[in-house]
Amino acid sequence: MVVIGVKIIQSVVDLSHWFLSRAVQEGSMVIDATAGNGHDTLFLANLVGPSGKVYAFDIQEKALETTKALLAAHGLEERVQLIHNGHEKMDKYVPQKVHAVLFNLGYLPGGDRNIITYPDTTVQALNKSIHLLVPGGVLAIVVYWGHPGGGEEKEAVEEWMGQLSPAEYDLMKITFPNKNKAPYLIGVQKKSGRLKNEICPPKKNSRDNREL
Ligand SMILES: C[S@@+](CC[C@H](N)C(=O)[O-])C[C@H]1O[C@@H](n2cnc3c(N)ncnc32)[C@H](O)[C@@H]1O
Repeated sequence: MVVIGVKIIQSVVDLSHWFLSRAVQEGSMVIDATAGNGHDTLFLANLVGPSGKVYAFDIQEKALETTKALLAAHGLEERVQLIHNGHEKMDKYVPQKVHAVLFNLGYLPGGDRNIITYPDTTVQALNKSIHLLVPGGVLAIVVYWGHPGGGEEKEAVEEWMGQLSPAEYDLMKITFPNKNKAPYLIGVQKKSGRLKNEICPPKKNSRDNREL
């Protein structure tokens, strides 16, 4: 028996990082819409490098303090703007187009579980996010929905996702169907005519060269 030594189906957070890393590179401008304890902000700060920038939002002072300390411990505070305000106001703070936006919905791990992301502000922020994306830019949404209020937010996000035009956006959803109320990943990419299909090029029918 051959044992594969790599865990291929990773955690939802790791999958979101993999997805973001396809679109974010040195010099990119990105938004962490839910800074929380700063783990995602740190990941993005590493990706954008010294010439890039991360805008990181949270409504909780405590979350931004933790994020600031984490960034300082890694010497990366300079490339991150911490914003103590709701992500639904992102258009007031972000003056340029961005390559990626990340949402990690729900409550602050280790914090007050009553302070959660809410359907109306999340949907407002999602709408603003897709308008801020450059062509080819991506939006990653990690949907936690096991907590009180999470189900309503999940429904709102699903409804929002359902109205994205396939002519303008590519969309994916990665779920973990054998786990109860497991968080899942929604990935959106704004289409651009110049994008290359790098992983699975369309197969050609060898006889008449039609795309299958
Ligand atoms: C699941 S946590 C984020 C985890 C984080 N990404 C990390 O790496 O630790 C969700 C965060 O969203 C924040 N939040 C809730 N409503 C918000 C809003 N309207 N705008 C920005 N952040 C919000 C909460 O305060 C909480 O810290």
